[in-house]
Amino acid sequence: MAKQNLFKVVVIGDGAVGKTSITVRICHGQFDGEYLMTIGVEFGMKMCTIKGQKIKMQIWDTAGQERFRFLQPAYYSGAHGALVVYDVTRRQSFERIPIWMGYLTGNVGTSLPTIIIGNKCDLDDIRSVDTDEGEHLAKHLSKHYRQDIPFFETSAKTNQNVEEVFLRVGSMMLDERLFEVEKAVEWKERAKNDWW
Ligand code: GTP
Ligand code: MG
Repeated sequence: MAKQNLFKVVVIGDGAVGKTSITVRICHGQFDGEYLMTIGVEFGMKMCTIKGQKIKMQIWDTAGQERFRFLQPAYYSGAHGALVVYDVTRRQSFERIPIWMGYLTGNVGTSLPTIIIGNKCDLDDIRSVDTDEGEHLAKHLSKHYRQDIPFFETSAKTNQNVEEVFLRVGSMMLDERLFEVEKAVEWKERAKNDWW
């Protein structure tokens, strides 16, 4: 596969929000109810076809626990897209989303195609964050970072919206890359014209 169709996607957010479960669901179609904390980082691979193009996503399923925070710069290096996850049943994980956005933008420097995810939406009866609060936060962050940051509620358990999230971030990364290529061609043309 051509290198230009390979993308690195980082999955970040507090411990136990379901980052590994989402990754395992999209890569292997499985769900495990047991919690096995990620140590450092784990990797997944997902191939998909978007707008007629085959793309490969290398998914960096990172550790959410505080003690692994020192690894953050390595997670973000060379990333093309990010999924920022909270747990709809744990309000604190939602309230910390702006902090995760800060880590992301602070480390990457430029704006990356990013999606906010409220996971575990199957646990509707014990949720502590409403859907419209998630939507509102994503709109607020979109304004703040001057980029479109979509919002999805997912369930790694029932597979709700998991595929949709990856197709969306894949499509955003592809658009971003096409934009960069167009910009490079334009610059080359301009340089040629200036020279003559
Ligand atoms: P760290 O690796 O410590 O950062 O955690 P994590 O974000 O990778 O969480 P993980 O995927 O390990 O999930 C934590 C717990 O939540 C596990 O017991 C999962 O089975 C459970 N879980 C994850 N996603 C869902 C979901 O969509 N619905 C329900 N009901 N449980 C979920
Ligand atoms: Mg994990």
